[in-house]
Amino acid sequence: MLTLAVFISGGGTNLQAILNAIDAGVLDARVALVVSSNPDAYGLERAKAAGIPTLALSKEDYADPQAADARIVAALKSDGSAEPAIDYIVMAGYMRKVCEPLLAAYPNRIINIHPSLLPSFAGAHGIADAFSYGVKLTGVTVHFANEDYDKGAIIAQQSVVVAEDDTLESLEEKIHEVEYVLYPQVLQLLAEERIILADTGRVDIY
Ligand code: GRF
Repeated sequence: MLTLAVFISGGGTNLQAILNAIDAGVLDARVALVVSSNPDAYGLERAKAAGIPTLALSKEDYADPQAADARIVAALKSDGSAEPAIDYIVMAGYMRKVCEPLLAAYPNRIINIHPSLLPSFAGAHGIADAFSYGVKLTGVTVHFANEDYDKGAIIAQQSVVVAEDDTLESLEEKIHEVEYVLYPQVLQLLAEERIILADTGRVDIY
């Protein structure tokens, strides 16, 4: 079973999808901690409702991003109980870059979901940017995180067709529906140790 820490900044609907997949028995994992870069994130309520410990940092805490990440690492490791250590950090709408303290503590063990087909439309507005560009096909990417936004090795992608009658809102809905299925699936592949990051920087799935 995988032990996860889920990092959020907002609504936490992807966190909810992960928790639902665990409850449904299709994801062999537990969420040991939810970290939020925003103390007002609704996702924190979801964590509390599920009985999961939380750590919320404020904007002021991130004034020094290295110190903020060192604090997160300490919280992730400070468990002190007999529970297994965190296997993966799962960024789900986490609007902060992970930096050296986290990357060094969890090498190749931090993953992110992005609402476009990377490397197209990286950044904070992937869905809106793809929609206004006028692409006919966009999608969702799950990738390893590194020190650059949306740049790590790609684990999985799923396409979403932009229909002629799609609005930004309807496209957002389609993208999120794909996210809620794809992210738990990728986590289950990690649980089954079927995802290998090769030296070439490519990811192989067995
Ligand atoms: C998702 O679309 C995710 O791809 C992006 O931020 C959004 C998070 O939504 N990185 P939520 O907080 O999981 O509802």
